[in-house]
Amino acid sequence: MTVVDLNQQRIDAWNSDNLPIYEPGLDEVVKACRGKNLFFSTDCEAAIRAAQCIFVSVNTPTKKTGLGKGKAADLTYWESAARNIAAWSTSDKIIVEKSTVPVRTAEAIEKVLLRNCPAPGVHFDILSNPEFLAEGTAIDDLTTPDRVLIGGKIENDRGTAACAALVDVYANWVPRERILTANLWSAELSKLTANAMLAQRISSINAISALCECTGADVSQVSFAIGKDSRIGPKFLNASVGFGGSCFQKDILNLAYICECHGLQEVADYWYSVVGMNDYQKTRFVRRVVSAMFNTIRNKKIAMLGFAFKKDTGDTRETPAIDVAAGMIEDGAKIALYDPQVPEEQVRMDMGEEAMKSITCYKNPTDALKDAHAVTIMTEWDEFKTYDWKEIYEVMHKPAFVFDGRNILDHAHLSEIGFIVYALGKPIDPFLKSAEGA
Ligand code: UGA
Repeated sequence: MTVVDLNQQRIDAWNSDNLPIYEPGLDEVVKACRGKNLFFSTDCEAAIRAAQCIFVSVNTPTKKTGLGKGKAADLTYWESAARNIAAWSTSDKIIVEKSTVPVRTAEAIEKVLLRNCPAPGVHFDILSNPEFLAEGTAIDDLTTPDRVLIGGKIENDRGTAACAALVDVYANWVPRERILTANLWSAELSKLTANAMLAQRISSINAISALCECTGADVSQVSFAIGKDSRIGPKFLNASVGFGGSCFQKDILNLAYICECHGLQEVADYWYSVVGMNDYQKTRFVRRVVSAMFNTIRNKKIAMLGFAFKKDTGDTRETPAIDVAAGMIEDGAKIALYDPQVPEEQVRMDMGEEAMKSITCYKNPTDALKDAHAVTIMTEWDEFKTYDWKEIYEVMHKPAFVFDGRNILDHAHLSEIGFIVYALGKPIDPFLKSAEGA
């Protein structure tokens, strides 16, 4: 397996002791295989020539300009990878779509490959093999996946043979009954649909969290109760300040855009509303903070614990913390930020220079929390649960507020200590009652 990238710095990092991404278990895998059957290189041409099978795993971000901007997937990197593959291939290849792509991308890619390959008689078989692993649990998801999905042109012999070749690769460690085959378009669409459905569950429970706060119901109890219905199941029902990550929003917008392109406006609107609810949840959280703190957070030090979009990753793409921080800064807050994995440069890139005038990044939680008026929990890092909250209370301004955007702390214990606690979808603290309806 040779991993190629045009970016020398990135490949150097993969060949070093400090891998360019943090993922539990990844270091061990890379260190065990690197130099034996796993290589990292910038020599794309040689790797393409030598390969029988090429996994294309390039970025497919949301388009920033032009037709479909803000919604459609930008396939620039995919197309240029396909052009390189076509230019350098001198033997038959199986091309595997690993990147998340719009349905029917394989058709477009096939046209690019066929019309740009100068070598005579070279044949390309395109397969869709969407990636379902999640960050933070990537290695487990890879070694014991719920399912592996392989889409190909199963209506003809070549396509069936290409699918079988990839099935054989996965069958080395995945039980055969978990390896599904499908037609190309179903596999491509399944990826977008899976992410849209997962995100939709979060938006649904987040919508209910708002109603819980108005009615005295507890969203955790509601999640638990409905999750016991085997048709609903317990996963992905944790109310939060909002879903983040590089995929959910991008994939839903892309799915909705494809629906629009097919004239299915009602279907598109349905999926847009999942993103709309996510935005509402972030705004609602900021409103709660401001209204609880007597309608002003100007010049108040607010400790923000966590910036990553979920625990066990340093990834901040589309993290709800960006919007919450921006919202609080708009109201004049001074943010004291601590995240165990996210470096200051990353926060700077995400928030911009202007916002950074109101953000101080700390390397330890103690300094971030000292003299703070409030704490906002943005990421569900386990270490936040282990802090001595009594000690923290002592060094904060009073009344000391905790706004738990992930519902991970022991709220009864915090209230006992003296904190005013706001937790998403939980019965409202009597102190906050007057600010209710925020
Ligand atoms: C997601 C999917 O879960 C993967 O199956 C998919 O392969 C991946 O996108 C992708 O397309 O690459 P990921 O974004 O890494 O994986 O992380 P998730 O665990 O899905 O979490 C996404 C967001 O939802 C996080 O901000 C998380 O905190 C939030 N979330 C998750 C909730 O707010 N509540 C929940 O109950 C679960």
